[in-house]
Amino acid sequence: MRTLIANGTVVNADGSAEADVLVDGEAIALVGHDLASAGVTVDRTIDARGRYVIPGAIDAHTHFDMPFGGTMSKDTFETGTRAAAFGGTTTIIDFAIQPRGGSLREGIDAWHAKAEGNCAIDYGFHMIVSDVRDDVLAEMDQVVGEGIPEFKLFTAYPGVLYSDDGAIFRAMQRSVDNGGLIMMHAENGIAIDVVANQNADSGHTEPWYHGVSRYPVFEGEAANRCIRLAEAAGSAVYIVHLSARDALDAVRAGRDRGTPVYAETCPQYLFLSLDDLGNGFEGAKFVCSPPLRPKEHWAELWKGLQADDLQVVSTDHCPFDFHGQKEMGRGDFRRIPNGLPAVEDRLDLMHDGGVVGGHISRERWVEVCSTAPARMFGLAGRKGVVAPGADADLVIYDPNRRHTISASTHHMAVDYSCYEGRTVQGGSDIVMSRGRVIVENGTYCGSRGDGRFLRRAPTGDALRRGVA
Ligand code: URP
Ligand code: ZN
Ligand code: ZN
Repeated sequence: MRTLIANGTVVNADGSAEADVLVDGEAIALVGHDLASAGVTVDRTIDARGRYVIPGAIDAHTHFDMPFGGTMSKDTFETGTRAAAFGGTTTIIDFAIQPRGGSLREGIDAWHAKAEGNCAIDYGFHMIVSDVRDDVLAEMDQVVGEGIPEFKLFTAYPGVLYSDDGAIFRAMQRSVDNGGLIMMHAENGIAIDVVANQNADSGHTEPWYHGVSRYPVFEGEAANRCIRLAEAAGSAVYIVHLSARDALDAVRAGRDRGTPVYAETCPQYLFLSLDDLGNGFEGAKFVCSPPLRPKEHWAELWKGLQADDLQVVSTDHCPFDFHGQKEMGRGDFRRIPNGLPAVEDRLDLMHDGGVVGGHISRERWVEVCSTAPARMFGLAGRKGVVAPGADADLVIYDPNRRHTISASTHHMAVDYSCYEGRTVQGGSDIVMSRGRVIVENGTYCGSRGDGRFLRRAPTGDALRRGVA
């Protein structure tokens, strides 16, 4: 199958140009001018006049079918990757979880079983390490070799996923040897639990107290600690879902010292705030960790994205129904499952709030949503770019079309939207995954199981040297 995408504006991270794109089979064959007149023969021509042609977005932080907070995140790999495709995302990287007391192998096998044959788009895994032991450190080397080269550890969630400083330090040391990358959920979970329990014991049980118990300084302290541990280990470190100015300051200070520290933020920290947690139990819809912050943090995060102190925007998509799941925490905010749905909305929110809102250029939008995650997670040249030889993961994006986000029209398997009623400018008209149109005119036209597992090369060494 050969497809010519004609007359569009090709937007890459390093620049934009009016150009045609020739797709041959699964890959991009040519990007050039007036390819139709040059006599290329094709099966289909798509006129992209007035629209952008961008690399499919990459969401490097999702949790599909994840056991958490006494329940399971609501999107499966089937529903979650299909919803992602509707929103212009053509690659996701989810987190396989080592069961506590078990092996990494068990986690990886479980996640392959969940994903294989079910995905609409290509997918990869990072590995959550919940229990750092000698045998697990050795197993990390094999896991890197299986194309799963990042390991997420937590300074949060004591008794569940928490690792102490020694465990984190040992994993960082190991990553220097095996080329992997340590990702950190940086919040001081021990201190948070003290405040959360004090609030709950005083009768403050509403969702708002989830937000106010998790002080920004607890995130800043943990981020700084992780960065300092990485310095001591001589490793790179990637801070996930950074929400607070305090943590960004730690990242900036680390980068100023020359530490290879990288970080992502998420749309919820740019567009939602602590206020959203405040409407009685409705606030449960907005419970995630780190929590939503006061609005004053937004401007700093935008500055971080502009200055490249934050390199990536991912979703941390971890959806739970309001009815039946978030409701588990009625009367005790500590029992509300943590996480928000967003995989379908990220690209449009970042276009509307970021590009149309004047915070970032359209090229930077493509970079933080696609090119940078490809570069940082071993997919450079293959994904995240509109160029000959790359996979034809392409989105024909209308920068002027407006639509209103709603749970009644979204495709995520969750009964509410954090952005209900918000009108955004920009939308994915046609989405292609390796040369096949999988979404067109608001209709899914792919098949379950089209998505392939991506074995990814480790980038830890390159990131450590600052050359990824
Ligand atoms: O609230 C969140 N973030 N839930 C997902 C798990 C995590 O920490 O990433
Ligand atoms: Zn986390
Ligand atoms: Zn997460």
